[in-house]
Amino acid sequence: MIEAENLEVEKGGSLVLSVASFTAEVGAVTGLIGPSGCGKSTMLNCLGLLERVDRGTLRIDGMDLTRPSNAQRGKFWKDRAAFVFQDYGIIEDWTAQENILLRKTGRFSRTRGKSSVYEALDFVGLTGRGNETASYLSGGEKQRLSIARTLHKKASYIFADEPTASLDTENRRRVIDLLTACAASGATVIVATHDEDMMRACDTTYDLRQ
Ligand SMILES: Nc1ncnc2c1ncn2[C@@H]1O[C@H](COP(=O)(O)OP(=O)(O)O)[C@@H](O)[C@H]1O
Ligand SMILES: [Mg+2]
Repeated sequence: MIEAENLEVEKGGSLVLSVASFTAEVGAVTGLIGPSGCGKSTMLNCLGLLERVDRGTLRIDGMDLTRPSNAQRGKFWKDRAAFVFQDYGIIEDWTAQENILLRKTGRFSRTRGKSSVYEALDFVGLTGRGNETASYLSGGEKQRLSIARTLHKKASYIFADEPTASLDTENRRRVIDLLTACAASGATVIVATHDEDMMRACDTTYDLRQ
């Protein structure tokens, strides 16, 4: 669970984010919504310990991480958090499998089976595609691959910044369903979005205009 109070962030000398109270529950999809420039990415990055908070408090699982040490931040990213971005965050010249594992493995002769990589690929509808070079995947496939990576990592926190913004209708639907399924299986999912369908799939939304 992530809780924030009186969170404020300044950039270039002006206040770009001010949130009185925020909670992201375990097993739920929490949306950060509002028009472009209202601070969705800033808020998401603060919650994911990617950006510094100027004022307020931030707690993750009850631990005060308002001013995380490098060790705390590193541990959170390594063990608990996964990020899904609008532009997929995929290493183009690595295979799908390598993108899931985040290390070079070379091609495997086996392309399906019981390993957790194959399970993750199956789950996102990329069965048997583990040895394909990521640059050959479509945008929707790349985004599903980035979700396979979060599944394989068993991330307890998934931070997604406009995850459907670059996708066609069918892949938008699939990505929304996958993120909802991640939450249903126990992850805390936080999504910055201005996609109406994504917003509707959220259990709770915070409009950052206010
Ligand atoms: N380095 C910066 N210096 C000054 N202002 C910035 C900087 N980066 C972002 N901003 C401003 O912060 C605000 C929030 O940006 P952002 O969190 O990216 O919004 P959103 O994701 O909702 O579009 C915007 O008004 C943006 O112009
Ligand atoms: Mg943004």
